[in-house]
Amino acid sequence: MWSHNEIRNKFLEFFEKRGHLRLPSASLIPEYDPTLLLTNSGMAPLKPYFLGQKNPPSLRLTDVQKCVRTDDIDEVGDIHHLTFFEMLGNWSIGQIGKPFGKEGRGPYFKKEACEFALELLREFGIDQGKLYFGVFGGDSGMSSVPPDNETRQIWLDLGIRSERILGLPLKDSFWFSGPQGPCGPNTDVLYDLGPEFGCGRADCGPTHDCGRFLEIWNAGVFMTYERKADGSLESLPIKSVDAGAGLERFAMVLQGGKSAYDTDLFKPLISEIESLAKITAERVNERSVRIIADHVRASTFLASDGLVPSNVEAGYVMRRLIRRAIAHGHLLGIEGYFVSELSETVVNEFQEAYPNLAQTHSVIHELLEDEEKKFGDVLKRGMAELDKYLRKNPNKKVGGDFAFRLYDSLGFPVDLTVDLAKAKGFDVDVAAFEENLARQKDRSRDARAATAYDPEKIKTAHTAAHLLNAALKKILGLEVHQMGQKISEKSFRHDFNFSRKLTDVELAKVEELVNRAIAQNLPVECLTTSFEEARSQGAEALFEEKYQSVDRVTLYRIGPEKTTGEYFSKELCGGPHAHYTGELKRFKIVKEEAVSSGVRRIRGEVEG
Ligand code: ALA
Repeated sequence: MWSHNEIRNKFLEFFEKRGHLRLPSASLIPEYDPTLLLTNSGMAPLKPYFLGQKNPPSLRLTDVQKCVRTDDIDEVGDIHHLTFFEMLGNWSIGQIGKPFGKEGRGPYFKKEACEFALELLREFGIDQGKLYFGVFGGDSGMSSVPPDNETRQIWLDLGIRSERILGLPLKDSFWFSGPQGPCGPNTDVLYDLGPEFGCGRADCGPTHDCGRFLEIWNAGVFMTYERKADGSLESLPIKSVDAGAGLERFAMVLQGGKSAYDTDLFKPLISEIESLAKITAERVNERSVRIIADHVRASTFLASDGLVPSNVEAGYVMRRLIRRAIAHGHLLGIEGYFVSELSETVVNEFQEAYPNLAQTHSVIHELLEDEEKKFGDVLKRGMAELDKYLRKNPNKKVGGDFAFRLYDSLGFPVDLTVDLAKAKGFDVDVAAFEENLARQKDRSRDARAATAYDPEKIKTAHTAAHLLNAALKKILGLEVHQMGQKISEKSFRHDFNFSRKLTDVELAKVEELVNRAIAQNLPVECLTTSFEEARSQGAEALFEEKYQSVDRVTLYRIGPEKTTGEYFSKELCGGPHAHYTGELKRFKIVKEEAVSSGVRRIRGEVEG
């Protein structure tokens, strides 16, 4: 049986042998993509390559990317919906003037993508008799994009019987990377889990959404177009392949599991939750157990990438996941702080594939426990209000206004209200809740419109963040490291490990040091080197493992200072940066605060 570590390794080695460069997973927190809250697919961190905006380190790439998608959060707990998942990916980045071809390291397209998929599925020992293949069947609203008969023919040439090849509708066979961005028709591999997973209808077939036919591999999005802001499709100058397979689904099939949770990716966590909840044999596999397992996994990985729960944007996604896990623990009768405890199991299970889990495990634990402490009170108050409300409403309905009040005043996610109410036989008017929420969003969108993000102007804030990181080390000690960062146009927040509040004197010194570096108008150099060389020069690196496994890294050096001849800062980073520190004009610390025990945050602003 293939373990999850073996599946990852096999996938990466297969594509490495076929000329693909192995990349480490990018962070779950997108570095330069303001259109995304969290990394939601393998291709998300690679978008600039598909658009021809940036040169890839190789025309063939492969990786296993950590992803979070919360669009289907309400479905989590069934057999395969998850918020956190890993995407096994292979890519060919087209290049003008380069012919496609299977051999070597050049770009490839539809034929080779299909061949690779079939070959690897065979090597995994997957029974081909259980496979179906979807291709883009055309769409009346997209007359400029013909049905993908070329890919149909490729599958036929590879020996797939025609009744196994399905022309699928737009929603299942045309992949968009977002409201704007690269997109194209795709070809799916579906696996027949067997009639016991299906709807039982006599005509149950692979075009049914009943769960029997599981999409195990998007074997290639053939990136041919860019969707523009007005919705029109423009042909891309280069044609690329973006293929992705969910590791959890692969594991389910290869390990013969009945669900994604019935695999070695989840079993240790599930059995720990069951023992915490003292679950008896007849209650195993309860939905709440699965929800806790999924949400704890997601929160642990988000924390390891430096995200902190908050009431906005990605931080709110994380808060919601942790809070839902806590509430479901409450429904199961689990006592005490258990999310932080369970994160240790996640760290143990996944540290081989993601070493930064082990490096950050104490921070993860503290961060999650902090949130458990905060939410303990909220949960008590929210439950008391909800109970009072339920007692007064014999009609078994919870109004949307009330659900919104719980959300708005206490941070009680609506799905939590739904779950808690449902456990007592009540329905929540979610539509009315959504109306309240939409009105609130309109109000905040208007407020945000004034602060539009400019993927160019973040340069100065980025450079200021490097200066701040270096200044903190100089004032507080070399053991201080960056734990997370979020950069917007002229401001940024920088999280770092430190056990206490900074004094006013320390803050003034840090600010002064940064402004001194700005006043010296130091050059910002960008060099490409090896990770080892960068480390031997004493360079800082936030996501070490990301850099360790790539051949070349980008090192930004600021300096040298005239007085000392030393570089003020050396840090690995993807940029973009100012060319000279003088472009920054002035730096100001706006706030210093605790994120969790052992982690502090500085919010900084920069003029220039
Ligand atoms: N980007 C493609 C997907 O997520 C492979 O399905």
